[in-house]
Amino acid sequence: MPQTIAVIDFGSQYTQIIARRIRECQVYSKLYHHTVTAEELKKDGVVGIILSGGPSSVFSKKAPIPDKALFTLGVPVLGICYGIQLMGHLLGGQVAKSDHREYGHGTLTIRKAGRLFSKLPKKLRVWNSHGDRLIKLPPGFTAIGTTDNSEYAVIEDAQRGFYGIQFHPEVFHSERGVDVIRNFLVGVCKAEQDWTTADFIKKSVADIRTTVGKSRVLLGLSGGVDSSVAAALIHKAIGKQLTCVFVDNGLLRKGEREVVESLYARNFKIDVRVVDASALFLRRLKGITDPEQKRKIIGRTFVEVFEKSLKSIGGADYLAQGTLYPDVIESVAIGNNPAALIKSHHNVGGLPERMKLKLLEPLRELFKDEVRAVGSACGLPKEVVWRQPFPGPGLGVRVVGEITKERLEILRNADFILQEEMMDNGWYWKVWQSFAVFIPVKSVGVVGDERNYSYVIGLRIVESIDAMTADWTRLPYDLLQKISSRITNEVRGVSRVVLDISSKPPATIEWE
Ligand code: XMP
Repeated sequence: MPQTIAVIDFGSQYTQIIARRIRECQVYSKLYHHTVTAEELKKDGVVGIILSGGPSSVFSKKAPIPDKALFTLGVPVLGICYGIQLMGHLLGGQVAKSDHREYGHGTLTIRKAGRLFSKLPKKLRVWNSHGDRLIKLPPGFTAIGTTDNSEYAVIEDAQRGFYGIQFHPEVFHSERGVDVIRNFLVGVCKAEQDWTTADFIKKSVADIRTTVGKSRVLLGLSGGVDSSVAAALIHKAIGKQLTCVFVDNGLLRKGEREVVESLYARNFKIDVRVVDASALFLRRLKGITDPEQKRKIIGRTFVEVFEKSLKSIGGADYLAQGTLYPDVIESVAIGNNPAALIKSHHNVGGLPERMKLKLLEPLRELFKDEVRAVGSACGLPKEVVWRQPFPGPGLGVRVVGEITKERLEILRNADFILQEEMMDNGWYWKVWQSFAVFIPVKSVGVVGDERNYSYVIGLRIVESIDAMTADWTRLPYDLLQKISSRITNEVRGVSRVVLDISSKPPATIEWE
């Protein structure tokens, strides 16, 4: 195992970012619930501990308080925001309520660099977000940094390797924040920077081989980033023992099936079985207009088709899934931490239990950016590794109302033009998602001298970090103009193109 830094989660919306920043410094990090015991941390061999921020006040009855024994493990501890207050509270200092919350940018003045601020400027712009503050130092500590609002913005007990900082070094708005984290990891914890993509692949390939032995593995390939990278990695480990099933549900985009066939089957020599179940899906969706019902039918039919394909390939022992670290982290529901409210969309819910297969999840320790790095290192092209997210129910939720072959065809052609233009102009890589929506409304148009009465296509192009919130992208007018004329000129059945300028919230990204 690589050396581990424990990040203890007190419910901050930034906790996952702390874990990612640590990994960006090539040190392995793991998130722990705040109820973790010192004994468990010791068993995991952690070489340093970071106490995250959080929305609570140490004075509140329900405040999450960690096992105090973690301060006796003999490993360095860094408390961030709520973490510094916990250190003050638990180690004999004093915390008080501030008259007002300190939120936003502030200037940090470093009085003594020590190991935490080694080789960093004396003044830094940092990001604050806290209500309480430390007013008396715990024994053994000295204050080494201040802000206008706090005498104790950075505290250290160099002997024990305990540090507390009031600001958030993990967020992008804190100048040189990653360097502060790196100084803690390397300078204070003496952690080895041994968490690299190449090492991960080597270790993962060996693990997969040992786990799987001579067994067969089945993987549902969607063409999305996660399942593609999982397939590439598993294939690297066990070659022909892996069989991928790609289900054509009739709700795919133009050319999608062909790309899967050429890339995975021909280039990578992965055993990919393409199952054409489009007729079955479309038959079951006939006359259905309710989005949730559509999702249910699509999900159920997928499981059925997938199960059947298992029989046709002669069975398997393992089911591989592209589960990522954020999917397995138990989110902490404290206050109104949005992280606790996120519900992920499960497209294949219940599949492993039903199929009675053992699970193989080689990406479950990785964040998305690490998955992309693994994908690139395995030789997957940029088009796969940086592909925009595409919903499991596919075009089924982008044809508003009833799904018919004719409507799907119109949408596919319009969407293809949009993607082509986005790619040509490099915009495809800059946005979160860009897609066309079929709007089942007919509007009047003129072509030549003739009146034409056809459908409307909506363009949905958004920027987002995590799909929780999104803003519509301000594409250049000339580009919008080109997309619009190409769609109305080249796609039969469309008389009008409209641009969706709604943010999320209140709108969602998809229309259904
Ligand atoms: P919304 O529309 O909820 O979408 O703002 C947020 C993100 O989730 C994707 N999405 C789905 N993904 N199955 C999926 O796998 C679904 O049923 C589904 N619905 C929405 C959407 O494309 C966006 O990235």
